[in-house]
Amino acid sequence: MGNTHILVTGGCGFIGSNFIRHMLSQYPYRITNFDKLTYAGNLENLRDIEKDRRYTFIKGDIADKVAIENVFEKEIDSVINFAAESHVDRSIMDPDAFIKTNIGGTFNLLEMARKRNVKRFIQISTDEVYGSLGKEGEFREDTPLAPNSPYSASKASADILAMVYYKTYKTPVIITRCSNNYGPYQFPEKLIPLIITNALVDMELPVYGDGMNIRDWIHVLDHCEAIDAVFHKGEIGNVYNIGGENERTNIEIVKLILRILGKPETLIKFVKDRLGHDRRYAIDSTKIKKKLGYKTKKGFKKGMEETVGWYIENKFWWERIKSGEYLEYYSKMYKDR
Ligand code: NAD
Ligand code: DAU
Repeated sequence: MGNTHILVTGGCGFIGSNFIRHMLSQYPYRITNFDKLTYAGNLENLRDIEKDRRYTFIKGDIADKVAIENVFEKEIDSVINFAAESHVDRSIMDPDAFIKTNIGGTFNLLEMARKRNVKRFIQISTDEVYGSLGKEGEFREDTPLAPNSPYSASKASADILAMVYYKTYKTPVIITRCSNNYGPYQFPEKLIPLIITNALVDMELPVYGDGMNIRDWIHVLDHCEAIDAVFHKGEIGNVYNIGGENERTNIEIVKLILRILGKPETLIKFVKDRLGHDRRYAIDSTKIKKKLGYKTKKGFKKGMEETVGWYIENKFWWERIKSGEYLEYYSKMYKDR
């Protein structure tokens, strides 16, 4: 166990950084974090553990085959692939990087995992690959894939490829499909941190369409524990859904944040809807609960209060981010809406 050496890709992003911190606090493993440091990757996210002798950071692109080959020289025995372009709106504006990273990058990692006989390859996927639900029903692991955005299409493609590596080459692939995460270090382009950080400086709060789209929210540390369970106890060749059992409309989320902050609802602005906007996501997590004994720990109200508190206390973190390239993105994204 002590010799376990995990390659975590995309470890400077929101979920990857929370996951690395979690794993280093729980296990004696070595972790190599391979991250391109795109706009979403931030070395600040792991400042507190960067001097840990078990941790190594390498800047690189999973779409770069040679760079990936070099990383595998380091006696990697497991891969957990978080690296991705992750924002749906950006994928609608400019899908190119989504195809290169999410599909091409995953392919490079699978190829090296096959050649080097790694013990585990965990593909961090998303519930968005299942598409959209009506009022009833939940996504199960055998729900057909029906993505509706370039982002979810790229993640679904990567899932299919990963499963084919298991079927054809017996590469030890496991896929996780989680619902919407919230918590510390989430880039402020996503709904919850965007609303918190806009509200803190009394900016308008853009709500797409009628605000009645539903997401199932899970705290990022619960997601990390689920991945930990899958890494240690998951069965090769399987898919595990991970949900928060916590469905909320977007407008409910926005109003909750305003209540926590004591800010007025007049900040809310209903804007033009997202193209191909999925109406509802809901996850059936029976499999991971029954087979791996997983359950969520963080209550939503407490989790949201803590998350709002984190953004209040870490203003320096998001103020720096919400400048430069972000402002360009924001004005392009919300122009004419
Ligand atoms: P994020 O955008 O915060 O972080 C992505 C990280 O990947 C960044 O550090 C970025 O620099 C890195 N990266 C991007 N392209 C890369 C490349 N070509 N090579 C190497 N590194 C690259 O994303 P996140 O929200 O932390 O999501 C992580 C993973 O979890 C993604 O695969 C995403 O699809 C999946 N996921 C996210 C959620 C969610 O709610 N955020 C839910 C379910 C699944
Ligand atoms: O379900 C898992 C997915 O959750 C992950 O795979 C993605 O990486 C992650 O970005 C997230 O996707 P969503 O599109 O659901 O998240 P986002 O935060 O972008 O939007 C959540 C909901 O809020 C969605 O219905 C769109 C809406 N929204 C979003 C923004 C940014 C708004 O109404 N206004 C906004 O400004």
